[in-house]
Amino acid sequence: MLAKVKTAALVGLEGQLVDVEVDIASGLPAFNIVGLPDAAVQEARERVRAAIRNSGCTFPTKRIVVNLAPADLKKAGPAYDLPIAVGILLSSEQIFADVSQTLFIGELSLDGSLRHTNGVLPIVALSLEKGLPDIVTPGVNAREASLIEGTRIIPFDSLSRLVSYLRGEIPAPEYQPEESPETDAPASAITDLAYIKGQEHVKRALEVAAAGGHNVIMMGPPGSGKTLLARSLPLILPPMTNEEALEVTKIYSVSGLLPADTPLIRHRPFRSPHYTISNAGLVGGGHWPKPGEISLSHRGVLFLDELPEFGHSLLETLRQPLEDKVITISRAQSSVTFPANFMMVGAMNPCPCGYWGDPFRQCTCPPGLVSRYQKRISGPFIDRVDIFVEVPHVDYEKLTDDTLGEKSEQAQSRVQAARLRQLERFQGSTMNCNSEMTPTEVRDFCQAEEPAQNLLKAAMNQLHLSARAFHRILKLGRTIADLENADIIKAHHLAEAIQYRPRTMV
Ligand SMILES: Nc1ncnc2c1ncn2[C@@H]1O[C@H](COP(=O)(O)OP(=O)(O)OP(=O)(O)O)[C@@H](O)[C@H]1O
Ligand SMILES: [Mg+2]
Repeated sequence: MLAKVKTAALVGLEGQLVDVEVDIASGLPAFNIVGLPDAAVQEARERVRAAIRNSGCTFPTKRIVVNLAPADLKKAGPAYDLPIAVGILLSSEQIFADVSQTLFIGELSLDGSLRHTNGVLPIVALSLEKGLPDIVTPGVNAREASLIEGTRIIPFDSLSRLVSYLRGEIPAPEYQPEESPETDAPASAITDLAYIKGQEHVKRALEVAAAGGHNVIMMGPPGSGKTLLARSLPLILPPMTNEEALEVTKIYSVSGLLPADTPLIRHRPFRSPHYTISNAGLVGGGHWPKPGEISLSHRGVLFLDELPEFGHSLLETLRQPLEDKVITISRAQSSVTFPANFMMVGAMNPCPCGYWGDPFRQCTCPPGLVSRYQKRISGPFIDRVDIFVEVPHVDYEKLTDDTLGEKSEQAQSRVQAARLRQLERFQGSTMNCNSEMTPTEVRDFCQAEEPAQNLLKAAMNQLHLSARAFHRILKLGRTIADLENADIIKAHHLAEAIQYRPRTMV
């Protein structure tokens, strides 16, 4: 007899319907899976065989063929275990049920229990889109699956319980959302601004950056607090909207990085990859394209500590996603697009020894090395950075001053107010913050009063700024004005924005 069970494949961040067709015929015992399965899907044979046997059912000793249709779509991962098992049980007439309106996903253990499965969230979204009312998931995925409303989640912890349900022996265990607050802890090693002494101008620059989603580079000698300052950003950034939280959770769900006790990621991601990271690790890739660090920092911060050490070619690969806010990974058979709308924060020393330009210590780098070091970061890359700030070393008096500075909370409330103004401004568009404005929006939204225009004109002429710099200064000016709740950009807003321009370093 032939049985058909519905499941889904993941293509990037989107789900795609897959039919699992199972045919059992008499002949020499065999169990084959066709339809472009990868190694993990092939191994499903062993898991399914043991799980069926250990769930009180019989594994048919006949010729079994499983076809995953459409046959030209690659299938990866262990989520096909459950639909294959259900297909075999239906086909061998051990259960009789109409499963045409139900989608099944789940990885099986040898003992028949259902394990946590990656990428459940996009698959629930798909079943809603395709009008499938029911979705059977592993019990541990139920909270994550229930984030998208409109589909009935039927969670099971074992194949044997599912078999009883399909035989009509037990009712459907519908998922009841728990009342517990769905909050995840912010990443560890996060610092409150209050504990960072001095560096007021850097804190201000980070506040402006957080308010408008601008990219930042911090430069200064070793031990001046660059890493510390960058790690204070997550506490200044405003909380994510529900929509943003869902987007981020989808990416983590597909990457298998969603903690089991955190169904919804509410804190903005803060990713800090080491400079030895590979190209694929940074921007995404692999045989089955997976999101890289830039997508894992979507809606949050990508912190590149020791920026020049990342090397020229790695930084160049960031140029396109920094501009487009998405990354497309092409493979021979298909291409997938992942979102990558992140705030880039870089920290660097001015030279390999770290003391070039330091008023108190002599730089020991040989001539030529400093400029070679700084040239590892190309002009076009620097051009995409809105705020460039120097972090000098802190003196004794400031470090030993016991008075606590302003807490991150206060900065965050100002940032949040500025972000609300931006959300209102960009209502109806896909933009969220000022840094995303294109020249058209800059023209529409960045009106400056006359003295401000004169200042900008003088700066353009004297500093020989490029067209991109012109737009960047206006965007920054808009953010600084938003922090002051001002409708029109004034001269002092632009004066501050001009200060943040990337300097020619050597
Ligand atoms: N402004 C500051 N207030 C309080 N502590 C500070 C400050 N600056 C630095 N420190 C202390 O110095 C340590 C080193 O700072 P941090 O790692 O941020 O320096 P860095 O600028 O990143 O140096 P490097 O260039 O070597 O990476 C911090 O862990 C912190 O204890
Ligand atoms: Mg550091």
